[in-house]
Amino acid sequence: MTVVLATGGNRGIGHAIVRSLCSRIPDATVVVGCRSREIAAESVEELRAQGLRVDGLALTITDDASIREAVSTVEGKYGRLDVLVNNAGAVPVPKSQELEELRSNWAEGLDCLLTSPMLVTKAFIPLLRKSEWGRVIMVSTARGSLTRNRALDMPPSQHWMYDCSKAALNLAMIEFRNSEVREIPQEKDRITFWAASPGHCRTGFNGFRGTKDPLEGAEVVSRLLASRRAEIPSGTFWECEYGNFQQIPW
Ligand SMILES: NC(=O)c1ccc[n+]([C@@H]2O[C@H](COP(=O)([O-])OP(=O)(O)OC[C@H]3O[C@@H](n4cnc5c(N)ncnc54)[C@H](OP(=O)(O)O)[C@@H]3O)[C@@H](O)[C@H]2O)c1
Repeated sequence: MTVVLATGGNRGIGHAIVRSLCSRIPDATVVVGCRSREIAAESVEELRAQGLRVDGLALTITDDASIREAVSTVEGKYGRLDVLVNNAGAVPVPKSQELEELRSNWAEGLDCLLTSPMLVTKAFIPLLRKSEWGRVIMVSTARGSLTRNRALDMPPSQHWMYDCSKAALNLAMIEFRNSEVREIPQEKDRITFWAASPGHCRTGFNGFRGTKDPLEGAEVVSRLLASRRAEIPSGTFWECEYGNFQQIPW
């Protein structure tokens, strides 16, 4: 059995990732991380009714006590974690352009989009280490690509904080990968880290104005997790656009 935890699995891309992984990884039990036990129970009931092998977990990524409790629950139930998909995220919208408002908006946004997935990952490392092959996917965005931004390849950004958070999340992913390389002598014992961009998906995140169905957005995560060990190098950044599964430049 492959134990997969997807944070923010109750709706949007996270929900699509849960459904996609249940069908694409035949031996998977996908744990649906949600902000509360009640939301997790509702999600699990809905997904089990579709015949999917899922479990629920209360996990508010911005709350350290919740992270600790989630680690202890997964440890008690499964004894390890095989895959962590850091998907949960929210973009607070500033109420004005006043400096104080922007400062607090950036602090709140970076806490959710950067610090929290980093801390969730750090907290789950001991359980990922107990897996035969621990894997972590940071759900990022191509908007975090410095190269594409510098080339004016992206539409103008409404929230610089968002783009900056994901560029920094990509770097945090590389820092995790580098720690593995430096501290774990054998490749076979190392946890693999990837960043993945789902593309512009129709979710509550963007007022359902995205161009892709969330299930199409989930495809990049499925492709990474369907790969054989060492086939896709740790510390790389991927997308699946127009049927092409490809690396995104930093
Ligand atoms: N949509 C896009 O076009 C797009 C493009 C590139 C990348 N992404 C990334 O994809 C990920 C998912 O976005 P989405 O479009 O699916 O957004 P969404 O529909 O708004 O869903 C966000 C999910 O994250 C959860 N969440 C937010 N803050 C949380 C917290 N503090 N603790 C636990 N869960 C929390 C939400 O839970 P609640 O239901 O309780 O609020 C919800 O399940 C994000 O990381 C986003 O940056 C999205």
